[in-house]
Amino acid sequence: MATPHNTAQPGEIAKTVLLPGDPLRAKFIAEQFLTDAVQFNCVRNMFGYTGTYEGKRISVMGTGMGCPSIGIYSHELIHMYGVENLIRIGSCGSMQADVKMGAIVMAIGASTDSNYAHQYQLPGTYCATASYELLHHAQMAAEEKGYDYVVGNVLSSDLFYMETPEWKQWAKMGILAAEMESFALYCNAARAGVRALGIFTVSDSLVTGEEMPPEERQIGFTNMMEVALKTAP
Ligand code: HPA
Repeated sequence: MATPHNTAQPGEIAKTVLLPGDPLRAKFIAEQFLTDAVQFNCVRNMFGYTGTYEGKRISVMGTGMGCPSIGIYSHELIHMYGVENLIRIGSCGSMQADVKMGAIVMAIGASTDSNYAHQYQLPGTYCATASYELLHHAQMAAEEKGYDYVVGNVLSSDLFYMETPEWKQWAKMGILAAEMESFALYCNAARAGVRALGIFTVSDSLVTGEEMPPEERQIGFTNMMEVALKTAP
């Protein structure tokens, strides 16, 4: 059964889905990394594909930006299509001087300034965490490849452009980097009892104001992709 945002038929989406924010990146991944990729969605140009990687059936689909957008797509993937492993891949902005440009960040946890968890009526502050199993696999893949990586807490922010330097308060709590989606993804996965993980490359630094040039972005992106594909169960 199709959803308002996804026209895939049951069975067309694999149990493991890689989730870049940008749908054109999903297309690129399907073309470059997957064998026999078949497109399953183009509603709102939120492209999704299923193919194989080293014999594993894997899908890749864009999520759009921010918690509301990934909240919708991941909810449908989990509840309407039976997806069990959701691996977000994306870029992030470093909040720490020692988290360098191009490094891989694995989000063991996601903090947030979003109100996404309000729906659960929790009597306190929720700590959104990654699947330890996926994280462990990702760490082993990065070790094997010899890629630089750090594991820690990220900030899933509603704000890309901030009126005040409020990110510095999060940095004091040891948050490694800012991105915009993992908190909602981790909440949806936790609520449904499935696995999620966010893996990022540092594309800019809130500390120094640096921005990665496009050619370097591509290298960082390829390393992260290899880690994500090897992480897929
Ligand atoms: N903030 C939020 N999301 C991001 C950033 C950032 O600085 N860089 C890449 N994604």
